Amino acid sequence: MDKIVVNGGKRLEGRVDISGAKNAALPLICASILTPGQIIFDNVPRLGDIRTILKLLAIMGADIDMNWPRIKINTAELNNPIAPYELVKTMRAAILVLGPLVARFGYAKVSLPGGCAIGARPIDLHLKGLKAMGAQVNISKGYVEVNCTRLQGSVIDFPQPTVGGTENLMMAATLAAGTTVINNAAREPEIIDLANLLDKMGAKIRGAGTSRIIINGCENLQPADHSVIPDRIETGTFMVAAAITRGDVLIRKANPLHVSRIVEIMKNIGISVETGKDFIKINSSGTIHPLDVITEAYPGFPTDMQAQFMVLALKARGKSFITESIFENRYMHVPELLRMGADIQIEKRNAIINGPCELEGTTVMATDLRASASLILAGLIAKGTTEILRVYHLDRGYEKIENKLSSLGADITRKPSEIY
Ligand code: UD1
Repeated sequence: MDKIVVNGGKRLEGRVDISGAKNAALPLICASILTPGQIIFDNVPRLGDIRTILKLLAIMGADIDMNWPRIKINTAELNNPIAPYELVKTMRAAILVLGPLVARFGYAKVSLPGGCAIGARPIDLHLKGLKAMGAQVNISKGYVEVNCTRLQGSVIDFPQPTVGGTENLMMAATLAAGTTVINNAAREPEIIDLANLLDKMGAKIRGAGTSRIIINGCENLQPADHSVIPDRIETGTFMVAAAITRGDVLIRKANPLHVSRIVEIMKNIGISVETGKDFIKINSSGTIHPLDVITEAYPGFPTDMQAQFMVLALKARGKSFITESIFENRYMHVPELLRMGADIQIEKRNAIINGPCELEGTTVMATDLRASASLILAGLIAKGTTEILRVYHLDRGYEKIENKLSSLGADITRKPSEIY
């Protein structure tokens, strides 16, 4: 397996372009299942998770043409509505094929995603929604099987917002008979992007981006082309990279509106943040003050930025507080940061960070996608050399991160497994 080697202490300066959003591209690609025909996606990030979902569609019979960042998917011959364990186990978001498959074929068999490093992550709310729409749901031998001649519009009340659940049911409802209302829907920008594609395909959706989404079902949809929105988590990660290295970085092809909470917190702790229509400029030369954040559903502070903000807090002068309210086990990066010399105390879902901390480079192991990003960030500010192992987590969600960081002046290289 590859590893990433970072020699810390370099100030980041220059410009970096943000790639398309992984978490938008995944449901968009699944939406192509809804109608036989060809959809061309642009600005698709070249990532492990995107390859996994494309492989899954190919196994089901879709024809895929990859010319990154442009991907053509033809689902005319897609006729095998089964998602096997081998693919679903590597990426939980594969469950997003469930709603579109049932809507188009009246049947789907998808492996249960199981647990993952950051917590149990059930899919009960996805299944409850499908049942409310008249589907029969059976779980047997690690697979969920869903049957329904035609889904019926229904009112779905989520007890808490779920991003994947909202996306799955929104896609399913586009081909249902009658009207579906999703209450307490997730409001992430990725949901608006999905609704925009579905709208171009002929679906009738109102309220995406609010907590009440109304979908009037149609008989059929047509293919449409779509460009993926910028990745707000990659954007936030580069914002932190610039801030902790006392850098001066222009982040381009971004959407500042999608990171407004991150911008607000950074400004409050003394980092200069300038935003334009599609750029963010970070300049960090003064003292960084402590932060106090709690992860929440959008538009709150994203759980996918919690690990990176932990490293930001290590540079702050004073005691910072972070509370992880979305996932129960998302502090897996902390033991590795402690090994680098961080002063962090964890009590259940709360973390107290005593900054500023002088980190020292060592060999660390990535445990999940955003944890890997935080270890790279820690490597940027550590004294000496940091080696990050299990880089495949990082490759699931960050496009060419080492190239982008080295173009900003970081001393970072990837060592392919065969040379060490
Ligand atoms: C998506 C993102 C992920 C992000 C997360 C929260 C994608 C591909 N992934 O994941 O990067 O960290 O949103 O912003 O977009 N829950 C249930 N039952 C369910 C579904 C969810 O209890 O049926 C719980 C989860 O365990 C979690 C919370 O709801 O505590 C939010 O999860 P959800 O929004 O569904 O996350 P994902 O869609 O899996």
